[in-house]
Amino acid sequence: MNKPDQKRKILVTAALPYANGPIHLGHMVEFIQTDIWVRFQKLRGHECLFPWSDDTHGTAIMIRARAEGRSEEEVIAEADADHQRDFQGFQLQYDNYGSTHSDENRQVCGEIWKTLRDAGLVKEKDVEQLFDVEAGTFLADRFVNGTCPECKRTDQAGDNCECGHTYSPTELIDPVSVLSGTTPEIRSAKHLFIELEQLHDFLRQWTQSGEHLQPEVANYLKGHFLGDPDSKEGAKELRDWDISRPAPYFGFEIPDSPGNYWYVWFDAPIGYIASTLQWCKKNGQSLDNWWKNDAAEIHHFIGKDITYFHTLFWPGMLKAAGYSLPTKVHVHGFLTVNGEKMSKRKGTAFKAATYLKHLNPAALRYYYASKLGSKLDDIDLNFEEFTTKVNADLVGKVVNLASRSAKFVKDVGLSETYPDDGGLFESAAATGDEIAAAYENCEYNKAMRLILELADRANPYVENAEPWNLKKDPEKASELQDVCTVALNLFRQLVIYLSPVLPDLAEKTGALLNDPIVSWDQSKTPLTGTTVSKFKHMMKRIEEKDVKAMEEESKAEAEAAAAAAQTAATADQFNDSGQPMIDEPMAEECTIDDFMKVDLRVARIVSAEHVEGARKLLKLTLSLGGDHRKQVFAGIKAAYEPETLVGRQVVMVANLKPRQMKFGLSEGMVCASGPGGEEVFLLSPDDGAKPGQRVH
Ligand code: 2FM
Ligand code: ZN
Repeated sequence: MNKPDQKRKILVTAALPYANGPIHLGHMVEFIQTDIWVRFQKLRGHECLFPWSDDTHGTAIMIRARAEGRSEEEVIAEADADHQRDFQGFQLQYDNYGSTHSDENRQVCGEIWKTLRDAGLVKEKDVEQLFDVEAGTFLADRFVNGTCPECKRTDQAGDNCECGHTYSPTELIDPVSVLSGTTPEIRSAKHLFIELEQLHDFLRQWTQSGEHLQPEVANYLKGHFLGDPDSKEGAKELRDWDISRPAPYFGFEIPDSPGNYWYVWFDAPIGYIASTLQWCKKNGQSLDNWWKNDAAEIHHFIGKDITYFHTLFWPGMLKAAGYSLPTKVHVHGFLTVNGEKMSKRKGTAFKAATYLKHLNPAALRYYYASKLGSKLDDIDLNFEEFTTKVNADLVGKVVNLASRSAKFVKDVGLSETYPDDGGLFESAAATGDEIAAAYENCEYNKAMRLILELADRANPYVENAEPWNLKKDPEKASELQDVCTVALNLFRQLVIYLSPVLPDLAEKTGALLNDPIVSWDQSKTPLTGTTVSKFKHMMKRIEEKDVKAMEEESKAEAEAAAAAAQTAATADQFNDSGQPMIDEPMAEECTIDDFMKVDLRVARIVSAEHVEGARKLLKLTLSLGGDHRKQVFAGIKAAYEPETLVGRQVVMVANLKPRQMKFGLSEGMVCASGPGGEEVFLLSPDDGAKPGQRVH
């Protein structure tokens, strides 16, 4: 245990976000959780470093770049800018933002790789994998569909079936590449593996010591991977970890294995070290001071989906390469929205940028803090609760203390000595240790509860003292000053405790009382005899209309994305580990009766135009015969020049419910096939078909 007054050296990381997609509110659970912890440690006077980075390599980026006709570097540069814009919007305070596609990362990967080779942990094996000849690439499991070899259900994922059976994609019957729609062939290629089993004893000891992992995580690792040598079943053998991918692959080529690349999950966590190295270079420090120093702690914050990368592979790599091991890996659950998994399709995977357009970052920071515990439970985002909590707690109980008192002492400042407050300040100061322990243990929900209990004790003081009535009686000026001195000090104490969560409120409070909040210990001593600035608005109430506007915009984005994605798979549907918190189920089975409801008609394209501000859409006017026209926004911009479409016949869904999109009303959908991007092929009816004619 650390002594309370001992200055600690703490390196903190959050998972590196993938460069192939925007930041959503699911990501923000972890990023806010990490930022609060970092700010808390700094406030306590510890040296705390938060190096961060985008995670840029892998097939998903390669496919996206191809689909968008750009280089991978262009794609990742755009993501970097978008991600950092969102992070700044949410007031995240990281020390360096790097990229896993950096010189530093290549260098550290090379050094670690060499130590793994020298330690005899790397072995080569031939692996049979499906290869898409048309796309010219090996196919990761998620890029293949086919018929389950067990139950014969069609259209199943590359590695598991709805029936529960798991398999290798090479076992699928009738496999189809989701990239090109063609049948892939089986090819053999050399892969490099880390023999993790050699590190079994170390990993058992490290994971089961009770020091580094939450108990449920340690048990999960024992149950699923390590086994228990003392049990009847005994220890399990750790599987070799496949850490290379053959070309083509966007990543770093392995120096001593030309044509092979490190798998994204090899170089991603090394990105933590590489970003530290960038920071060290800029700040004249040595990397070893952080990563090979027993006096420095290392804390990783991650979601439960990436537990085994961070608790088996990563400590194994660090151990073998002579780096410090994580002091703690803090694992959190997923975000659900109104009790359901987030879904891009339903528009509940709210983008961070969309949230920020309509709502205050402080509100989400507080809401998440009030829900986050130290366990792996999922946390639910419920907008009704969000609105009530923020308005009742922050606006109603905290900021209210200042807004009802500061204006009365603007000219006179705080009393010279701290008045008798019935022990309120002192008892709240004594609660500081318990609040700090809750932050330290990632029990932010407990910390928020304790702080709000203090607010519940402070508010009756102001209500009983009624400064607004004291103000009316000039003889009570000194009493008024005392009451406001108490109210503002109790307020300031709460804000100090809340400042890791609400940095903006802390800054405004520092400005109001002319005493910046920089240390936790400021909560122990009241301010006296100081000036008070003019009270400025500190926090806006959450309005239901703003929440609705955010939800509506998110739905519209989902609809536009669906229209743009058309029929087939595009790169944006894939993440490298997948974001398992986003549920993208296969469309439900449709009966013949359902299908007959779909009014497929032949239509002639009367006009086709670019849409200002839309990256993927064209606006089409379609004739269904006579005067019957429909306007449709179709995601085919990358595939067709508008002028080449005029006069062409297409098949359209004519009875699709019209949808109001950002760019206008879309009154149907044109049918197309292909992998997306430039490869979208409009379905054209046979020659001789007449506009308006039904297709089935
Ligand atoms: O799951 C993810 O989003 C990964 N990009 C996290 C990587 S964390 C670290 F290992 F880099
Ligand atoms: Zn099956």
